[in-house]
Amino acid sequence: MAPYNIAVVVGSLRKDSFNRKLAQALEKLFPADFSFTQVRIDDLPLYNQDDDGSPSAQVTRLKGEITAAQGVLFFTPEYNRSVPGVLKNAIDHASRPYGKSAWNGKPAGVLGASVGPIGTALAQHHLRNILAYLNMPTLGQPEAFIHNKEGLYDEAGNIGEASKKFLQGWVDSYVAFVKTNA
Ligand code: FNR
Repeated sequence: MAPYNIAVVVGSLRKDSFNRKLAQALEKLFPADFSFTQVRIDDLPLYNQDDDGSPSAQVTRLKGEITAAQGVLFFTPEYNRSVPGVLKNAIDHASRPYGKSAWNGKPAGVLGASVGPIGTALAQHHLRNILAYLNMPTLGQPEAFIHNKEGLYDEAGNIGEASKKFLQGWVDSYVAFVKTNA
C-alpha cells in the first residue's frame, strides 16, 4: 500500500451519486504515493449509545479503516442545508466510545457536489463544525463547492478541462496538508 492511505467517506447512498462520481474522479489527480479506501456506510446500524460496549462488525470495520488511514476525505451532499443523516450516523459511530474516537487527529478534506449553484456550502460548514469538535485538522483553503453541471467531467468520467486546474490545485493543497499533519 502507498505510504499515504486516505479513507474516503461519501455521504450519499444513491447509486448514481454525484458525490461518489466526484470522489472517483478526484482520486485520479493524486500522486502515486497516495492510495484510497472507500469506506462503506450503507450497512451501519443507526447509532445507539447502548451498543458502545458491543459494536457490530460493521462499526468495527469502519473504525478500523479510519484508524489505519493517514487522512480522511469527506464528500458531502447537502440535505436541507446540512449534512445527510447517513453521514452523521457514520461520524457518530466512529467517534465512540468516549475517548476512543477513530477520527482524532486525522487530517481531513471536505468537498461536496450539488445540483444547486451554491454547491453544498452550508452542509460543508456544518461538517466543519463537527470535525473541529472531533479534533480533525481540516484543510481551510481552497474550499470546494462543486456545482454538478455540464462539462464537469469528460466522456471518460475524468475531471473536465474547465475544472481541472482548480481541482488539481485543491488536491495539491490537500497532499501537502496531509504530509504536514499525518
Ligand atoms: C436535496 N438537495 C439539496 N441540494 C442543495 O444544494 N441544498 C439542499 O439543501 C438540498 N436539500 C436536499 C434534501 C434532500 C432530502 C434531498 C434528497 C436532496 C439536492 C441534492 O443536492 C441532490 O439530490 C444531490 O444529487 C445529492 O447528492 P448525491 O446523492 O448526487 O451525491
